[in-house]
Amino acid sequence: MNMDGQAEGTSSAQNVRLVFRDDLLIGRTAIITGGSSGIGLGIAEVFGMLGANLVLVGRKVDKLEEARQTLASTGAQILTVSADVRDHASVQGVVQQTVEQFGGIDVLVNNAAGNFHCPFEELTPNGWRAVIDIDLNGTFNFCHAAFQALKRSTWGGRVINISLAQAASGWPGSAHAASAKAGVTALTRSLAVEWGPHGIRLNNVLPGPIENTEGVRRLYEARNEAEKERERMALGHFGQTDDIAQACAYLASPAGNFITGCDLTVDGGRWLKRGWV
Ligand code: COA
Repeated sequence: MNMDGQAEGTSSAQNVRLVFRDDLLIGRTAIITGGSSGIGLGIAEVFGMLGANLVLVGRKVDKLEEARQTLASTGAQILTVSADVRDHASVQGVVQQTVEQFGGIDVLVNNAAGNFHCPFEELTPNGWRAVIDIDLNGTFNFCHAAFQALKRSTWGGRVINISLAQAASGWPGSAHAASAKAGVTALTRSLAVEWGPHGIRLNNVLPGPIENTEGVRRLYEARNEAEKERERMALGHFGQTDDIAQACAYLASPAGNFITGCDLTVDGGRWLKRGWV
């Protein structure tokens, strides 16, 4: 183990830790929105290493193709679909293609997100709408379109929604994203109860700042706020994409059988320390 508690010497294309048995998700088909970069790609990589079939959804074809190449070493079967999560008809198309290619859907990870720092008085109605549309309505669209397929999953369908601790605390300068994620959190909890009788488990994963992501670049690095933000972390450092991916794998696996409607905060203690600095 190294100082961060990471097992060493287990790696794939991007030095991902393999902390679970490598057949943990065998036979499952997982849709990952925003799966071509950042946290979404990290989730895809770990899920692929654990035996899942992958469906990556993103807007840009070239980024999806790059992701497919990055993920080739996992040996996963991969379907890439260019679609905007804001468009319900396109989302239905993704679900249909997934069922045609893999026979069903077992795991849905709603990870696609939009965010930018903007004081509220400067935020335009369209800027507000863009973020609510991607984060909240995009999550609605995929849950809505995938329900029937998730219901048929042999393992019990899993929905993992990527939310934020700021859904509860609010986020000055990102009121749009905090509001959207508060909606996501409430949607998760509502559907956990509605869909429990169908064996579908829904949970939120709440990441803190994660290295090498667009979020950290635009929200902290571009504003020279990264060092200050690091001081707000109880563990003193930002996370890696596979910190989030391992948490998602846990929830997608049989270890998550009795977990639904929960928030799993994976943020290095940021939410707690932030109140003390
Ligand atoms: N500050 C203030 N307003 C901004 C902004 C910024 N940094 N970036 C975009 N906007 C506004 C635009 O001005 C526009 O409003 P207007 O028409 O009134 O001028 C509105 O937001 C929509 O912008 P647009 O670029 O047309 O939207 P889009 O649908 O192409 O992109 C975003 C959506 C804005 C969320 C874009 O940043 C994006 O695609 N992000 C995805 C990646 C990401 O955010 N990653 C980080 C996740 S933590």
